[in-house]
Amino acid sequence: MTGSDGSHAPRDVTLALKRVSTSLRIGTQVRPVVVQVDLAAGAGEIVGLVGESGSGKSMTARTIADALPPGAAVSGEVLLHGENLLAMNRRRRREVQPSIGMVFQDPRAFIDPLWRVEDHLTEGLRVHKGLSRAEARVRAIELLDTVGIDQPERRIHQYPGEMSGGMLQRVMIAGALSVEPAVLLADEATTALDVTTQAGIVRLLDRLRRERGLAVLFITHDLALANAICDRVCVMYAGRIVEVRSGRRIFDDPRHPYTMGLLAARPKLDSRSRRLPVIHGTPISAMDAPSGCAFHPRCPYVLPECRSEIPPLVAVDGGVARCFRAKEGAARLSASSQVGSQANVALAVSEEGKECT
Ligand SMILES: Nc1ncnc2c1ncn2[C@@H]1O[C@H](COP(=O)(O)OP(=O)(O)O)[C@@H](O)[C@H]1O
Ligand code: SF4
Ligand SMILES: [Mg+2]
Repeated sequence: MTGSDGSHAPRDVTLALKRVSTSLRIGTQVRPVVVQVDLAAGAGEIVGLVGESGSGKSMTARTIADALPPGAAVSGEVLLHGENLLAMNRRRRREVQPSIGMVFQDPRAFIDPLWRVEDHLTEGLRVHKGLSRAEARVRAIELLDTVGIDQPERRIHQYPGEMSGGMLQRVMIAGALSVEPAVLLADEATTALDVTTQAGIVRLLDRLRRERGLAVLFITHDLALANAICDRVCVMYAGRIVEVRSGRRIFDDPRHPYTMGLLAARPKLDSRSRRLPVIHGTPISAMDAPSGCAFHPRCPYVLPECRSEIPPLVAVDGGVARCFRAKEGAARLSASSQVGSQANVALAVSEEGKECT
C-alpha cells in the first residue's frame, strides 16, 4: 500500500498520521511546531523519526499521545487502527489512551523517586486492567522478566535511586507494556545511555515488536542508530517530513541534502581527522522557518525557486523526498556543485570536540 506521503505504508496500519499540524500558544502568539506530517507504522514495525534538536520530533510524539502543553492546537488525523484520536470525545479518548505507550530520554525525570518499582508498575495494572494488588504484583514480576531484568522478585522492591539508568529505562518500558499498548513511542529512549546499554535496549525493542506486534515510533537524532533498527526512517526538518525511505536506502542513497548532511556529520571510527564535519548553520524549528524550502539557508545545492516555493514530496527510489532536486542523487548534486564531494555537503568544519548538532 502506498501512503498519502508516497511512502510504503504496511498493510495492517496500527498508527497513521495524515496531514497532522500542531501549533503551540507562546505568549499571545500561535506558532507552528509540526507541519502537515504524514507517517504510518504497522504491527511489528519500527519506524524512525530523525532530525536535529527542535525539528518537532517530540511534539509529533506528544501530539499522538495527547500530551501537548495547554493551548496547543492540532489539525489533521491521528488514526489508531483507523479510528481518529482527534475526533474522539474525552471518554473514548481515555479508553484508548492505554493503547499508546511512551518512553522518554531520561527515565529519572518521569519516575517518582519515592515509589518502589512495584508501585510504579502495578498502578496502571490496577487502574486500567482492574487487577487486585496481588495479581498486579505477579504481573509486574513477569513484566520485569520480559524486559530482561534478572531477579525480578528482588528488584520489584527497589527504589529508582538503587538502579542504573539502563535498568530504569527497562522499568519504564515494562511500565509502558503493562497495559498492553498497540503503539510504543520511544522518544530518545536510548540517548542518555552508554553504548552497550543502548544496544541492549534496542535489542529489547526489536524483540518486543516481533513478539507482541508492537508498532514502534523510534525517535532519535542519530541517523545511524535509526538505520540499524528501523524498517523505515522519516527525516524531519523544521516540523516537516523531508524524506521517508527504508533504512538501507536512506543510508546508501539519500535524496534530501539535509539527510546527506546528517550522514556526512556522523563521527567515523576510521577517521584520522581531528575535525568533525557539521551541517553549516543552526537547526531551526517550524516556527522559525524561512519562506520556500526551510533548509535553503543551509543547503549547498539551492536553486532560485528554493527560496520562494515549498518543495512537494516527490517519489524517489523506495520512498519520498521533499526537494526540487530529489531525483538527482548525491553524486550528481556534488558534481554540479562548487562545494565538491558528498562529504562536503556538511559544508563546514568544526573543531574536534565541538557539538555537531
Ligand atoms: N513546552 C513548550 N513550549 C513552547 N515551545 C516548545 C515547548 N516544547 C517544545 N517547544 C518548541 O517546539 C519546537 C519543536 O520542539 P521538539 O518537538 O521538542 O523538538 P525535537 O524533539 O525535535 O528536539 C521547538 O522550537 C521547541 O522550542
Ligand atoms: S529544495 Fe532546494 S534548498 Fe531545499 S533541499 Fe532541495 S535543493 Fe536544497
Ligand atoms: Mg525531543
